[in-house]
Amino acid sequence: HFPDSVRIVEVGARDGLQNESAHVDTTTKLELIRRLADSGLRHVEAASFVSPRWVPQMADHREIMLALAEHDTRGVTTYSALTPNLKGLEAALECGVREVAVFGAASESFSQRNINCSIAESLQRFAPVMARAAAAGVRVRGYVSCVLGCPYEGEIAPEQVAAVARELRDMGCHEVSLGDTIGTGTPLKAKQMLERVSREVPVERLAAHFHDTYGQALANLYAVMEEGIAVIDSSVAGLGGCPYAKGASGNVATEDVLYLLQGMGIDTGVDLARLAATGDWISRKLGRPNGSRVGQALMAN
Ligand code: HMG
Ligand code: MG
Repeated sequence: HFPDSVRIVEVGARDGLQNESAHVDTTTKLELIRRLADSGLRHVEAASFVSPRWVPQMADHREIMLALAEHDTRGVTTYSALTPNLKGLEAALECGVREVAVFGAASESFSQRNINCSIAESLQRFAPVMARAAAAGVRVRGYVSCVLGCPYEGEIAPEQVAAVARELRDMGCHEVSLGDTIGTGTPLKAKQMLERVSREVPVERLAAHFHDTYGQALANLYAVMEEGIAVIDSSVAGLGGCPYAKGASGNVATEDVLYLLQGMGIDTGVDLARLAATGDWISRKLGRPNGSRVGQALMAN
């Protein structure tokens, strides 16, 4: 039983660009974000309030979020930002954010490399973020990384994913996004993982955040949609990766997801042709090949 409609969370401007080694200027980022919203995307992750020494590409988080808060007076599209700690959240609130995300992991080694603390410590850091965000009326999304494998530890038990997802949900995250950070998952494993996690967190509160490193992301999405997943994170032109996961070569491309969903009669409200043009534009700007197969095909016609 597949969902009638799917909500796409576009992460290209954050997950995508954070992994680009060449500096992308603020004007280009804002142009990208504007084009994404214009194609009908209603949830765009736009920045990360993390240390500029850790992720230099996200150093202009203030400029980005301030510009978006100023321009988006209609409130049609939600622009969110990652906030790993209270310092990040306070800065994000000063810029008028309406939704933020905390990010943890199902793997201890990945947690250490990505946010410099253990899983337990990360949850302790998130507690004051949750409280402050609630007081400000800002929604918090929770991420769990390495749900289908870790670059340092290999296999990750579904129990571990379920435990972290449950903690995030119990803390008050309105949604928990399950990240196959290095794209090593395969459909049956993805299904089994989801089956275990959804015993702790209702599937309506879960999102799939799959990277396409091994070319499995669409198959994995098909598998988890069959189990009720109706929120999908993806990245225009397949931009992306994670600076702390070697070989994490990009999120599943939004164009590819849209084409799959269109073929299944599942509604998203996003205009594929317009999005494909944006994917082509940003790929050219960055001087990289378009990471979306659908984007390549549409632009060749
Ligand atoms: P830390 O070193 O443990 O923290 O870093 P600290 O509190 O000791 O601070 C160290 C320095 O960072 C200080 O600066 C702080 O001011 C600064 P200094 O005095 O040395 O000049 N700092 C900050 N600056 C700006 N904003 C902040 C902030 N906090 C501290 N919020 C920290 C901890 C989390 C900050 C660090 O490890 C970090 O920034 N990590 C970056 C992690 C990251 O962005 N990873 C990529 C996103 S996650 C992802 O891509 C996965 C996902 O897509 C899902 C999936 O695919 O699985 C979401
Ligand atoms: Mg990611």
